[in-house]
Amino acid sequence: MTSAPLAAVTGAEGFIGSHLTEALVASGHRVRAMAQYNSFSSYGWLETLPQDVLDQVEIVLGDVRDPGSVRALAEGADAVYHLAALIAIPYSYRAPHSYVDTNVTGTLNVLEAVRALGTPRLVHTSTSETYGTAQTVPITEDHPVNTQSPYAASKAGGDRLADSYHTSFGTPVVTLRPFNTFGPRQSMRAVIPTVIGQVAAGQHTITLGDLRPTRDFTYVTDTAAAFLAVGTAPAEAVVGRTLNAGTGGEISIGDLVGLIGKVMDTDLDIREDGQRIRPADSEVMRLVADSTRLHEATGWAPVLDLEQGLARTVEFFRDPANLARYKTGIYNI
Ligand SMILES: NC(=O)c1ccc[n+]([C@@H]2O[C@H](COP(=O)([O-])OP(=O)(O)OC[C@H]3O[C@@H](n4cnc5c(N)ncnc54)[C@H](O)[C@@H]3O)[C@@H](O)[C@H]2O)c1
Repeated sequence: MTSAPLAAVTGAEGFIGSHLTEALVASGHRVRAMAQYNSFSSYGWLETLPQDVLDQVEIVLGDVRDPGSVRALAEGADAVYHLAALIAIPYSYRAPHSYVDTNVTGTLNVLEAVRALGTPRLVHTSTSETYGTAQTVPITEDHPVNTQSPYAASKAGGDRLADSYHTSFGTPVVTLRPFNTFGPRQSMRAVIPTVIGQVAAGQHTITLGDLRPTRDFTYVTDTAAAFLAVGTAPAEAVVGRTLNAGTGGEISIGDLVGLIGKVMDTDLDIREDGQRIRPADSEVMRLVADSTRLHEATGWAPVLDLEQGLARTVEFFRDPANLARYKTGIYNI
């Protein structure tokens, strides 16, 4: 009997990482999951996974800024999925050094560990934010990189290091570039949980930032499936490449709020909140994905459309036990 492959995941206690952990276990993996060290011994969303999933998961507290902690995580792994990052754009205006430490140096530590250990596959996580406002649509991987926030710049820095480790050392890294992802467990820093969470908490006047930008929203289980697809595809199909993951659909934030109101069967009164408006040149006005290359390399395609995904997200936030984990009355950055 061969033992199940071991996947090591950074950022496993977060939104996408916890769904990826579930998807890895469902596809027959054991998972070594890093949750960021903290004084509460909190394992984040991993604490909410069903016991039969957790039976296949070894949770370790650590920090990607610490090389030893990353190396211990990757030891013996068949693949490393590197999702840990600081992700909020507004907080990156306030604390840019921590973004470089986590997203650039942290990625370097992962690359070094994988290189030293000879790990067969590394999936590095980029973001559509690295493209900046679309210059051509839909956005292919050939679109210029134009980093409009310290967050995007720090992610692009990690991407460049990943590329350089492949070209310099043959490190078997594939970079997945997800477009906006949404679903259960997402923090209220993102627009969809902000709207749904406020409504679920009984508020009808919803405070938001700019309503004009457009985004391409992928439901989180589809994004997790994209990670799994690039982590398990034959090396010749994906290694050394950057691959977009998005639906190809596009909706403005204003129209999205209308759609959420429809799914929640409620009228919403929107109030624009000045503190949520980003510096004009920093706001990415348009993102829409061309994921043809990912589809051709792995067969990946999204399963749920926006309305189906919103319905599942609403169901999650309407459960009082889930809603209790959020602070709906404040601006979460
Ligand atoms: N959510 C999206 O729409 C989206 C879109 C594109 C790319 N991404 C990328 O996907 C990844 C996961 O994002 P998410 O939306 O799940 O966010 P998240 O904040 O829920 O997850 C990130 C996780 O990284 C962990 N982390 C932060 N600093 C760390 C450190 N120093 N050491 C170890 N762990 C640390 C956090 O605790 C958190 O659990 C990130 O790399 C992000 O850039 C997200």
